Amino acid sequence: MRSFAGRDILSLKDFEREEFFRVFEVADELAPIARNRRNSDILKEKTLVTAFYQPSTRTRLAHEGAMHRLGGHVTGFSDAKMTRAGDFYQESIKDTVKMLEYYGDVIVMRHFQQGAPQEAAKWSSVPVINAGDGWGEHPTQVLTDLYTVLNEKGTLDGLTFLAIGDMRMRTMHSLSYALSQFDSEIIYVSPPEMSLTDDFKKELEAYNLTFREAKHVADVIHEADVIYMEPVVQPDYTKSREEAKSDKGLTPENYRVTRQLLAEKARPDSIILHSLPRMDELPADVDITRHARYWQEAFNGVVMRMALLSLVLGAME
Ligand code: CP
Repeated sequence: MRSFAGRDILSLKDFEREEFFRVFEVADELAPIARNRRNSDILKEKTLVTAFYQPSTRTRLAHEGAMHRLGGHVTGFSDAKMTRAGDFYQESIKDTVKMLEYYGDVIVMRHFQQGAPQEAAKWSSVPVINAGDGWGEHPTQVLTDLYTVLNEKGTLDGLTFLAIGDMRMRTMHSLSYALSQFDSEIIYVSPPEMSLTDDFKKELEAYNLTFREAKHVADVIHEADVIYMEPVVQPDYTKSREEAKSDKGLTPENYRVTRQLLAEKARPDSIILHSLPRMDELPADVDITRHARYWQEAFNGVVMRMALLSLVLGAME
């Protein structure tokens, strides 16, 4: 297995099966620190730099929280408008990263341009972690999601994932690449204008992923072990920011998962994951059903970032 020390985490295309399990093993080892709400000194000599060119609640704060749990330091920006990259100068990724690499030991970047973290990694002497790039990928979120599935189901093989929502979403891409390493299948359900592109389907075929598309959630939800959701009412991820409109619209019934649908059609042991934030596709009254696992997913988000930071900074081999 390749070492994680000094490695960029840019895409789950790069990940091999045994590497997933190594990350999950390290996450298991570090989880008690977060569970007991303690801080350790594992990364006490290291600093995380966050470079967020798009809004985030979970991804940025989970990385920061993880760094604190490991005794490290944090600096960075959460609004590029207050940096030279977002003002008159529109400073390039290269010039920005050539500064950031001296301010810390690992850079976590979210950007509205697909491929921006890859561009950053080209110029950075320290590891770069992709925290979501445009419609590209969101590898740390999907590592969190699969870790949650592994904890809940005890396996990542032999499962059926039902992916519901906008298939342009970066999580959907990372999830699809990741599942190509496991003996599990995906059923995709999305509005036609948000469906998988032909190019992406060809790529998935080349990766030997077992997948199919379905029109209606209600027709296939009984097959799902894991119900993986994203909104269809959402902003344009290629923009740095989109203000809320007074009428954002509602999610068509076909892409919603309600208590009634779960009670009538879902497997009793199926679990729901949602990377959040949510709109009306997942009503809040689903939270108290036995299917909901998104709060565990949120906790695991911190643990997973602890594992990744420890690995790329060489504190765990
Ligand atoms: N899941 C996720 O990426 O959430 P944030 O946009 O809040 O980081």
